[in-house]
Amino acid sequence: MRTQVAIIGAGPAGLTLAHLLRQHGIASVVLEHRDRAYVEGRVRAGVLEQGTVDLLNELGVGARMKREGLIHHGFYLQFEGECHRINMHELTGGRAITVYGQQEVVKDLIAARLAQGEPIRFEVRELSLHGLDSDQPKVRFLHAGEPHELLCDYIAGCDGYHGVSRATIPTSLLNIYQKIYPFAWLGILAHAAPSSDELIYAYHERGFALQSMRSPSVSRLYVQCPLDDRIEEWSDDRIWSELHARLDLNDGPPINDGPIFERGITAFRSFVVEPMQFGRLFLAGDAAHTVPPTGAKGMNLAIADVRVLGAALAARYHEGRDDQLRAYSATCLRRIWRAEHFSWYMTSMLHRFPDNDSGFQNQMQLSQLRYSVTSRAAATSLAENYVGLSQV
Ligand code: APR
Ligand code: PHB
Repeated sequence: MRTQVAIIGAGPAGLTLAHLLRQHGIASVVLEHRDRAYVEGRVRAGVLEQGTVDLLNELGVGARMKREGLIHHGFYLQFEGECHRINMHELTGGRAITVYGQQEVVKDLIAARLAQGEPIRFEVRELSLHGLDSDQPKVRFLHAGEPHELLCDYIAGCDGYHGVSRATIPTSLLNIYQKIYPFAWLGILAHAAPSSDELIYAYHERGFALQSMRSPSVSRLYVQCPLDDRIEEWSDDRIWSELHARLDLNDGPPINDGPIFERGITAFRSFVVEPMQFGRLFLAGDAAHTVPPTGAKGMNLAIADVRVLGAALAARYHEGRDDQLRAYSATCLRRIWRAEHFSWYMTSMLHRFPDNDSGFQNQMQLSQLRYSVTSRAAATSLAENYVGLSQV
């Protein structure tokens, strides 16, 4: 078997890259460890920056997102019993975000690729990468119990934080930066109409909470919880009572309860590896970096990486230039570090930290929140990072 680019992983990064390459007439094969139903059912975040929406539209996979995605021009910061709107649209010269689940993006990308008759191999096992520092790398794997070898020119490691691609690079060649946070989010999906038509980020003495949504009848809600909590420790009653305690205000509508149909605990990690390349292997998305979900940047960063990689590979194949490929890691890292900072900043401002310096940190957080909603300069900084910066 031979292709031009072997893509490891069928998440947002790998699938979007496959579409970008096809647009440029470059052949690729996507190899995914899980089965299709698992990949399509994996619930993740759901905020798309304008640049992400534009790219999905350019790739011709945006029709359902246009119909079902919810365009938001602002979001709320809630603290000290009051809710304050950040008017992103006005502060950023007319920009907005679209709320549309990552798993819906993944479903649309898979359906479009299979409709094109292009390959995605699900349920590959024991995948390994070889010859990365030669000009003929290969990928070995088992599929339906049979061994296969895929020869290629380049490998895109889009296999997420736990994938094999990053692990194949000699650690002595990598700089790893990471920060672990002392809490997690418990997230649910519920058949309940969101009580607000925009997202509410709530700072509360019991811990952070977020009201988001997936449709006018489905709420996506999160509460900060201890790092080592297990999902079994959270009954439906306990979840709703914590959400009400943190999100309901005296003078506003309470959040709406409803049957919970999905629940999970998400750990928090800021992580970056440099460089994002080793020989013919290029890392993209969560394989190279993760952010805590507070800034809603994970999927947007993954898609921003492959936009750069797709263009660099097109320049290589069609113009014989490899300057963009050589600059790939540095180009991506500028945006990544901006998003790392913003995600860390939002996380630090909005959560209760167990080690609380006699309340000093709470005062810092409250002061920063008040500044964010009273200074136009501070609100603009928040808004332009949230909608996504075009220049970084
Ligand atoms: N072989 C093949 N596929 C693999 C392997 C492997 N050894 N290991 C992991 N994978 C697959 C996973 O099953 C997953 O489908 O790689 C894919 C990686 O997808 P994501 O984790 O969604 O990563 P990415 O495409 O970079 O998207 C980043 O996902 O984790 C969220 O918050 C994050 O929104 C961000 C987005
Ligand atoms: C979500 O809708 O899942 C969501 C929204 C905003 C975030 C994180 C997650 O910051």
